[in-house]
Amino acid sequence: MNIGLHQLNSPADPPDLKTNKYFVIDFDSTFTKVEAFDVLADITLKDDPDKAAIKKKITEITDKGMNGTLSFRESLEQRLALLKPERKHIPQLVKLLKDQVSESFKRNKEFFSNYAEQIYIISNGFREFIEPVVLEFGIRPENILANEFIFDASGKVIDFNRNNPLSENGGKSKRLQELNLPGDIYVIGDGYTDYEIKHAGLANKFYAFTENVERESVSSKADHVAPSLDEFLYLNKLNTAISYPKNRISVLLLENVHPTAIELLKAEGFTVESYPAGLEEDELCEKIKNISVLGIRSKTQVTKNVLENANRLMAIGAFCIGTNQINLAEATRRGIAVFNAPFSNTRSVVELAIAEIVMLIRNIPDKSGRMHQGQWDKSAKGSFEIRGKKLGIVGYGNIGSQLSVLAENLGMQVYYYDREEKLALGNATKCRSLKELLSISDVVTLHVDGRESNTNMISRQQFDWMKKGVIFLNLSRGHVVDVAALRDNVESSKVAGCAVDVFPHEPIDNNEPFVSELKGLRNTILTPHIGGSTAEAQENIGRFVPGKLMDYINTGSTSNSVNFPNLTLPTLEDAHRLIHIHRNVPGILAQINQVLAENGINIAGQYLKTNEHIGYVITDINKEYNKEVIKKLRAIEHTIKFRVLY
Ligand code: NAI
Repeated sequence: MNIGLHQLNSPADPPDLKTNKYFVIDFDSTFTKVEAFDVLADITLKDDPDKAAIKKKITEITDKGMNGTLSFRESLEQRLALLKPERKHIPQLVKLLKDQVSESFKRNKEFFSNYAEQIYIISNGFREFIEPVVLEFGIRPENILANEFIFDASGKVIDFNRNNPLSENGGKSKRLQELNLPGDIYVIGDGYTDYEIKHAGLANKFYAFTENVERESVSSKADHVAPSLDEFLYLNKLNTAISYPKNRISVLLLENVHPTAIELLKAEGFTVESYPAGLEEDELCEKIKNISVLGIRSKTQVTKNVLENANRLMAIGAFCIGTNQINLAEATRRGIAVFNAPFSNTRSVVELAIAEIVMLIRNIPDKSGRMHQGQWDKSAKGSFEIRGKKLGIVGYGNIGSQLSVLAENLGMQVYYYDREEKLALGNATKCRSLKELLSISDVVTLHVDGRESNTNMISRQQFDWMKKGVIFLNLSRGHVVDVAALRDNVESSKVAGCAVDVFPHEPIDNNEPFVSELKGLRNTILTPHIGGSTAEAQENIGRFVPGKLMDYINTGSTSNSVNFPNLTLPTLEDAHRLIHIHRNVPGILAQINQVLAENGINIAGQYLKTNEHIGYVITDINKEYNKEVIKKLRAIEHTIKFRVLY
């Protein structure tokens, strides 16, 4: 009966209202995330001291109804007797249910209005609260199949419509049979009673809806499992609201990224897999094959080899600041956008640096160490305040500049050196050379990035330039400092104290021993790369990176991307967005526009940005167009990736 539908309705086609499919949708835990009776219980039993016991009883009765120990009608009678609902409770219930409509239903509102004639809501629940919730989606009152409460004069629910088949076992099938719909029937629901419709021979297909609850007994019997309505619409080529079901976008999160990130990405509808540790290259090469979005921290190496296996990868989120662990050139060549969290842990690093400066300038590491050995060494010798001291910041980026502000507030005189032109904050003084900075500073702190050319930028020569008794900090990257030179300078007391958080070789995990020439030096604070490791920073990162990844997937925005030209795009309204990533060679934009012109396509908005390697062109066009255009755009030479969003 449904022959031809697939040809008629490719995803971007206008919906075909003449389809002979009927969509029968369950209400509790499908249309809404919750069971309406659970919400009702919270309202009617709000002030009841036995609320918990009664709710438990209600659950037991529901279970008995499900496993057949009680008939559905008996279970309904008993539950209503315990719940004691009244008419006055209904508006509150409706309000709460409206807030709890399933996310994928909310984002596919267009489906409900386009197919209003063919959509039925079926429930053993009650019209009084179902109707106000679903009518907002354009569902017709006559297409709502539910029971009705019977109220007394004071508004108490005293019974239900016992003539309604939905008050009995097998009621859903019976109601559908009575309707005798003249076409294919597709049922979507989370419960066994929904599957029973198919089992009774009254539906062509049953889709187990698992966005809110997954019941193995139901999923195992389904023709398809639909983790969201998006998936159902995609399978049936009915989706008008989104171009691709989000549950088909697989996200792999490694290295114990913050739970907030997992929650956010799951709430967006992605299929998320997360692991506490990293993966070795060969494991990752295998695992990455079906992954669309990869989330890592600083340990996982995303090598050329890994990327060669990443057939579906669209984006990488580095849940940290540095991105040296990712082969950015290869990712760019393959049109994979990389995002990081450049300022989410800035404050944490700055606080540690301040604390360490104070500790070192007072000789605390040594004094504390001696106390642990039973030595009382009370003296002011070699101990100073930080007020009035000259702080020399090397690298005036996110961290360096924030440290500048805080240190100045503590009374330090701030000097900085950066290879790029940077605005001096507060009263900070810019130095014209590294030598100038090092030669005047009482405290030197490194906050440069980890680019290769910064390897050993602080070596013997640079220590020679420093003042005798200098305090030295490295919380940037290990390879920036020649560790042997630092050791010698601490041993000779040229450096009066140092704090090092980052090392050229860092253990891969907490089981590997830490080996370094800096171990055992006097007045030296060694920390295991924890400058940015605070609960606050982790949570900031856990929010920031998913935000960037979701923006990129949903709108094409690349703001703050490490390797893509940065474009911040408006949200898509009533248009389709063509996203074209190509090698940066001349003439591609002209070719794109030529294809669009030849096909009579009206451009609603166009954005182009390039970097050294790639060009990124976004074109918003009117929704109605010949789909051949897509093929032609894909075929343009030097295209790396192309996708359509709507
Ligand atoms: P950023 O990129 O905002 O700033 C780096 C600054 O250093 C830039 O202004 C750049 O122009 C400058 N720079 C680079 N090479 C230079 C050179 N040779 N001479 C002078 N200036 C140079 O980076 P952000 O966010 O401030 O981070 C700084 C460093 O801190 C990075 O290496 C990062 O990996 C590290 N970091 C360490 C953490 C830890 O847990 N210890 C946590 C967070 C960041």
